[in-house]
Parts: sequence; C-alpha cells; structure tokens
Amino acid sequence: MKPKVYITRKLPEPIINKISNAFEVRMWGEEDTPVPYHILEEEMEDIDGLLCLLTENVDEPLIKKAKNLKIIANMAVGYNNIDVNSATNQGIMVTNTPGVLTETTADLTFALLMATARRLVEASADLRNGDWNTWSPMQLTGQDIYGSTLGIIGLGRIGEALVKRAKGFDMDVLYYNRSKKVEQENGLGITYTSLENLLQVSDYVCVMVPYTAETENLIDSEQLALMKKNAILINTARGGIVNETALYNALKNREIWGAGLDVFETEPVSLDHPLLTLPNVVALPHIGSASIATRMKMADLAVSNLTAGLQNEKPKNLVND
Ligand code: DGY
Repeated sequence: MKPKVYITRKLPEPIINKISNAFEVRMWGEEDTPVPYHILEEEMEDIDGLLCLLTENVDEPLIKKAKNLKIIANMAVGYNNIDVNSATNQGIMVTNTPGVLTETTADLTFALLMATARRLVEASADLRNGDWNTWSPMQLTGQDIYGSTLGIIGLGRIGEALVKRAKGFDMDVLYYNRSKKVEQENGLGITYTSLENLLQVSDYVCVMVPYTAETENLIDSEQLALMKKNAILINTARGGIVNETALYNALKNREIWGAGLDVFETEPVSLDHPLLTLPNVVALPHIGSASIATRMKMADLAVSNLTAGLQNEKPKNLVND
C-alpha cells in the first residue's frame, strides 16, 4: 500500500506530479482558502505525511489524532504554526523550507523599508485621488535611507541578506542577536550591540527573529519608547513579536515615525484593525517570500522533505533532529 499524503492547499501540478506515483495524494483544493480544522482533523487519522502551510494551526489535539503520521512538512521557513514538541513526543518529524526564500524575503523587507520611509503608498493614493495639485516644498516628505543607521534584530540568513542591501545604501548596520557573530561582523562590516542601544540609535529597526515563546512581544511599549522619533519599525517576521497595541499607541502619538508591516498577530488582519487607520503604516498581506520562482522552490523543497521522510531518509530540513 502506498503511503497516504495530505496537502492542505492546491499546489502547482508539476510539483504534485513528482509524488503522485509514489504516494496516495489527497489535497484540499476546492478554493484558495485554508482547510477547515475539522477536515484536517479527519484527514490526520490515516495519513503518513502532511504537507501544510503557515495558515494551518497544527496543534497538540490535531497531532494526537494522527496514528500513522511520520512527517509534517511545512511550506515556510517559520514553523510557529506547528506544535513541534507534541510532534517530537509522538515521533513525528517536522521540516521547514529555509534558504530558498532568503533573498526574496530580504528584497521585500528592503522594499517595505523604502516604501515606508518615502511614503510610496500614500503618495500613489494621493495622485489617484486627485490630490496632486501642485509641486509643493514639503508635500509627502519622508525619511532618508542613504547613509542612515539600520538596526537588525536577529541576524539569521534573511538578516544577513538584508545587510547586503543596506550596504548598497551606505547604511551603518548594527545588529542584536542571541549570540555575537564575529565572522559575519568582519565579513559584512556590521556591529553587535545590545537590544536597548540598537533601539536607541537606529533610524530603521528591522525585526527578523523567529516567533517563539521567548520572542513573543519582544517589542513592546518599553522597547518602542527607546526608539527615536524619526525611527521606522519594519516587521517581516511574525506579528506576535511586536505588541500591536503598543505599536499603535507609539505611532498614533508620534513617538516613532512609521511602521512597515508584512505580518500581523492575526492573519488576515481585520480591516477594522486600529493599525490600518494610521497613515504612517504601510501594511502588506504577508508577501515576504512571494515571488513566483521562490514559491515554486518552497513547494518543491517541502515535497522533497516529505518524500525523504516517507522513504526512511533523513529530510534535509529537519527541525526536530
Ligand atoms: C515563512 O516562510 O516563514 C514566511 O513567513 C512565508 O514565506
């Protein structure tokens, strides 16, 4: 009997074709919406492999339903949507898709930084609304990027890729990380500092840590209060790392100048979310890795990890080794 695989969203045919001979593949493919929890609960009972997205909350009750499950392959580098401890306790492998999305996500992070600093979304909306009446000395003026100071919280792969973009803009780059990375400091020309100092001196603060119990609300009112009045916060990691109420207050009261957010505590963010009422927020729908080539590579890597796990090989990107 072929191992049974469930895929939680319709993936491109060439990707599915790679596994359709070896496995019995079922897929939630009716619409581009997340699979309902109760359906996933039923599917879990007899599957050997699960390929899921960050939209699926693979929690302990769901994992406990699984009787034959060997592997959960997440199509994302972040895996905070999966209860890895429960999976490990049940002997289930968990994999993610690091590496293939690094440059694309760094591109988007820098694009968001630029769009927020130079008010691109607001400017474009003004033009389309007929508000471009004349050239005006201080109209839509923003913050300079070239020559400014960038503080990166979390120097992982994407953080490092971001440094390369920042260096092209002659930015002074500081970073805060769990551990000091001497090799990267020398190679990239960046400086390690405390989180407090980074927040105090940076013109741009980019949040690039994974979302874990330790990083939840890492940026709260206390941290925001340390930032400069002209500073901009960029978050392309996970919403829960920044306390959204504290961020709203800091932006509303002009304690910081702006924020660029690709991620939210609850996604999709509700249209009546207070942060969306602020003109100094550029908001995107979690598109950090959204280039055609990168999404194909992520799907491909998730499928390779799944295949390896089901064929008794060690998957390349095992997170619970
Ligand atoms: C990830 O992979 O974790 C991103 O948030 C989506 O690409």
